[in-house]
Amino acid sequence: MELHLDGLRYFERIDSTNVEAARWAGQGAPDMALVIADEQTAGRGRQGRKWFTPPGAALAFSLILRDFPQSLEMPHLMARLTALGALAVSQALQEKYGLPAEIKWPNDVLLERRKACGILAEAHWQGEQLEAVILGIGVNVAPAAAPPDGEVIFPATSVETILRKPVDRLELLRTILEELLTWRAHLLEHDFLRAWEARLAFRQEWVHLLSDAPVSDQQVMVLGVGGDGCLRVRDSLGKEFSVHTGEVRLRP
Ligand code: BTN
Repeated sequence: MELHLDGLRYFERIDSTNVEAARWAGQGAPDMALVIADEQTAGRGRQGRKWFTPPGAALAFSLILRDFPQSLEMPHLMARLTALGALAVSQALQEKYGLPAEIKWPNDVLLERRKACGILAEAHWQGEQLEAVILGIGVNVAPAAAPPDGEVIFPATSVETILRKPVDRLELLRTILEELLTWRAHLLEHDFLRAWEARLAFRQEWVHLLSDAPVSDQQVMVLGVGGDGCLRVRDSLGKEFSVHTGEVRLRP
């Protein structure tokens, strides 16, 4: 079944809601248009990874954002919008179910230190012009949506596993969208950074900072997020520095 309304496209099954959202953005979808699917057959994760979305178990949706601050440089804009998605999901999980969700910088939402949600923000260009940002959000709602430990690089969980009761996916979606609209209005404000930082996982803890190129593994303490969306850390010699999205992965 498919349902197409002015600002909404629903699919029982689709390759990827981010791919469909990019197609629709190219055809003039309005700001905040929503693509949602019950099942994805080629869900996309960060850095070319696959994202698993079996039917009936997850929230998989993409928002087409067209209206964003012109003042931000591209990497900073993408970092803020990724954080907007993670903040909206973590606030929704707290508000609706009392779950103390954390944001694992830059784009994951953790429950009990396991990944329950991933965010994939992708820029959509028309020539040199940034036409839209596709904000893709995948939440593991039921246990069937969380891949087993051997199949993922960071252990996964689901909202129902942690909550120990069934979750209404549409209610959760509605709360996430409400939070997203609320926080979007504060994207450039200090309050936004503060809310993001308040949910930051591993704060004041030592973590491994893994980097692929050049390959390295460094122990650092997580301090917070910087104004441009970077992660602020301190190494074992007391030196403070910032890391940027795409450069590193964190491991407890
Ligand atoms: C990650 O953690 O690697 C990001 C995962 C993002 C998954 C969501 S599900 C909805 C949207 N459509 C996709 O193909 N990917 C995102």
